[in-house]
Amino acid sequence: MANMADHKKPEVFQYLSGFGNEFASEDPRCPNALPKGQNNPQKCAYGLYAEQLSGTAFTAPRVHNKRTWLYRIRPSVLHSRFEPVPQGNLTHAWDEWHPDPNQMRWHPFAIPDPAFASVDFVEGLSTVCGAGDCKSRNGLAIHIYACNASMGNKCFYDSDGDFLIVPQQGTLMIHTEFGRMTVAPNEICVIQQGMRFSIAVTEPSRGYILEIFSGHFTLPDLGPIGANGLANPRDFLTPAAWYEDRLCDYTVISKYQGKLFAAKQDHSPFDVVAWHGNYCPYKYDLDNFMVINAVAFDHADPSIFTVLTCQSNKPGVAVADFVIFPPRWSVQEHTFRPPYYHRNCMSEFMGLIKGRYEAKEEGFQAGGGTLHSMMTPHGPDAACFEKASTDALTPQRVADGTMAFMFESSFSMALTKWGNLTCDKVDKRYNECWEPLQKHFKPS
Ligand SMILES: [Fe+2]
Repeated sequence: MANMADHKKPEVFQYLSGFGNEFASEDPRCPNALPKGQNNPQKCAYGLYAEQLSGTAFTAPRVHNKRTWLYRIRPSVLHSRFEPVPQGNLTHAWDEWHPDPNQMRWHPFAIPDPAFASVDFVEGLSTVCGAGDCKSRNGLAIHIYACNASMGNKCFYDSDGDFLIVPQQGTLMIHTEFGRMTVAPNEICVIQQGMRFSIAVTEPSRGYILEIFSGHFTLPDLGPIGANGLANPRDFLTPAAWYEDRLCDYTVISKYQGKLFAAKQDHSPFDVVAWHGNYCPYKYDLDNFMVINAVAFDHADPSIFTVLTCQSNKPGVAVADFVIFPPRWSVQEHTFRPPYYHRNCMSEFMGLIKGRYEAKEEGFQAGGGTLHSMMTPHGPDAACFEKASTDALTPQRVADGTMAFMFESSFSMALTKWGNLTCDKVDKRYNECWEPLQKHFKPS
């Protein structure tokens, strides 16, 4: 599916539907900027440079192959040498804190007060946990961003993997090489390996980031569900080409092998006039998720709420899944309806965008998080168990006004020093939510 036909308004946020499709986009100020019949002509229209951005190996199977051709005012190589810069709480040092299997919960992560410090998106990155190795391109990291300032003449790209960004507070205005997009709380966006972007904010802002070092996110297969349901491809939106031809002192930040580096250049990197390909950023409104759920009895596994997945080499096993718990009807008969008690061979990090999560109405707050590590028991708190065990099982609305989510991974994640100590938000009383659970066993 090409998006040219819809490209009518210049310089506005404009999105075109599709997922995994071949897109083509031109800034309307430069019609016919895309070459006809070839990717790399001797001379590009308007004196543009052609540049390919590869998101998979050249020889990846066609179904997985991702690349985009960018037609830009200057090639992106035009910058000074990269030099190391401070990286705050961003880390991939998975051994800086001792292993800790305990259930973890964090109060809402702090947002810097603009009266005391100006902090942009990159400066406000803090790593909570992660596993694996970005050098061997296998694993993941979970970060919190908390910022109060725009990046200005500064952009960022991740050489190590893809960012799935989940805003919790504050709308992000994101300039990318592919065009612009706004991403508000209850929406998510994915900006993939190598794509340059700059984020502007108008208020103190906070959110969660799932970074994957292994491959890219895809939609989950639907199996017996059929051709429709969960996150539908038509609801994923890509930016349309938009360029600026602007001379300025510009800083390009590269995250490379877990470290940050800065290079200087004398112009804006957002000088792509046209592009075509299937490797591009996208966003998604979580309200578009079509919930599939049990309508007879028992509680479906949370995989039924998977929005996006990054699969490992083992069939059905994810490096990371992005799962949401949206508003829905709960109608199961003779069933304990909240999430069941369980232990999992996967790691589960949860966050809350808004509202109150049904299995823990107290304590788990928007902007906070929980981590239930590999095989660590967890489930509803005592109050939730007692209530759900005696509730009348009439159809009920669940999670209205709420959006909780989970980053679930087959990796055994390590907590960072920031996640354990420096953030100063660890809820040391989390275990107390289960302590009132009573024995109900009556053998007679
Ligand atoms: Fe769980």
